[in-house]
Amino acid sequence: MIEDLVTGGAGFIGSNLAARLVAERGAVRVLDDLTTGHRENLGPLGAAAELRVGCVTDAAILADAMRGIRRVFHLAAMVAVERTVREPVEAERVNAVGTLRVLEAAHAAGVERVVFASSAAVYGDDPSLPKRETMRPEPISPYGVTKLAGEHYLRFFAREHGLRGVSLRFFNVFGPRQDPRSPYAAAIPRFLDALLDGRPPEIFGDGRQTRDFCPVEDVVDACLRAAAAPGVGAGEAFNVGRGAETDLLQLLEWLAEGVGRAAEPRFSSPRPGDIRRSVADVSLARERLGFAPAEPLGEALARTARWYREHRR
Ligand SMILES: NC(=O)c1ccc[n+]([C@@H]2O[C@H](COP(=O)([O-])OP(=O)(O)OC[C@H]3O[C@@H](n4cnc5c(N)ncnc54)[C@H](O)[C@@H]3O)[C@@H](O)[C@H]2O)c1
Repeated sequence: MIEDLVTGGAGFIGSNLAARLVAERGAVRVLDDLTTGHRENLGPLGAAAELRVGCVTDAAILADAMRGIRRVFHLAAMVAVERTVREPVEAERVNAVGTLRVLEAAHAAGVERVVFASSAAVYGDDPSLPKRETMRPEPISPYGVTKLAGEHYLRFFAREHGLRGVSLRFFNVFGPRQDPRSPYAAAIPRFLDALLDGRPPEIFGDGRQTRDFCPVEDVVDACLRAAAAPGVGAGEAFNVGRGAETDLLQLLEWLAEGVGRAAEPRFSSPRPGDIRRSVADVSLARERLGFAPAEPLGEALARTARWYREHRR
């Protein structure tokens, strides 16, 4: 009996979450249209991961995928900020309407709880740090706008229909299976790919922009906690990060050290929609979800560097 559905489960975070669900509960269902995800990401899980290829805006596919499901982890999205800047209407369709459809289908199927992958992007470029959930969200990209809309829809469904839901505002997630080759790839897999190839890693901007880098294992842990914690589910939003601010030059140095190469970056123009600084206050998630990342960042980065060295295609 499959009781967990992961939308976007063939992607980076989703496939790590699917693996953990299989380890804990024996089976998982995945709904993914494979736009940025890969079937191979679920390969190691064999028949324990039931992949349905389809779009989260399709009500019929969703209704079918929700059969027997108790917990939904909604991760499917247009994830590249830059692409949402160029294609805001499509971003709205996939991210906002897609979330609405997932909530409608979950409600109709009697799902117990929905965990929604929101983002630090909802905060925008407000210079006040660290980011706290009580701050006024002011997204500066269609990506952030659509994630914020998703959060509001979760709250609406909780209030109006009693559907239990939790939004998690992921900061910068890294770890195994993050795609280094996409034109929108995140810094860590791109840096590692370049370092291992002996190419100069490309930094957009001056490298002094900061992020709160969080290992995917911690994010998966936060998802499971959000799906089970008592006393939450009214559509609350929680930051999920490490609470540590790291700039890209520092990050590159650590990664270069990890793979034993020199960090000699090439600088190019900043990406549209990118924010300057970001770091989370994670005390609310610690308090209400029991979220407590333990592994030092340097160790998690070294572990990721080893994984890329061993698994490069
Ligand atoms: N990686 C991060 O640092 C980060 C930070 C904040 C939030 N998030 C959120 O976490 C979630 C997972 O992100 P990720 O980094 O694993 O990205 P990813 O691109 O690896 O995963 C997204 C998955 O969703 C699938 N998908 C896209 N559109 C779909 C659609 N219309 N129907 C069905 N499936 C669709 C893709 O094929 C892919 O497998 C996303 O919602 C993203 O916005 C990620």
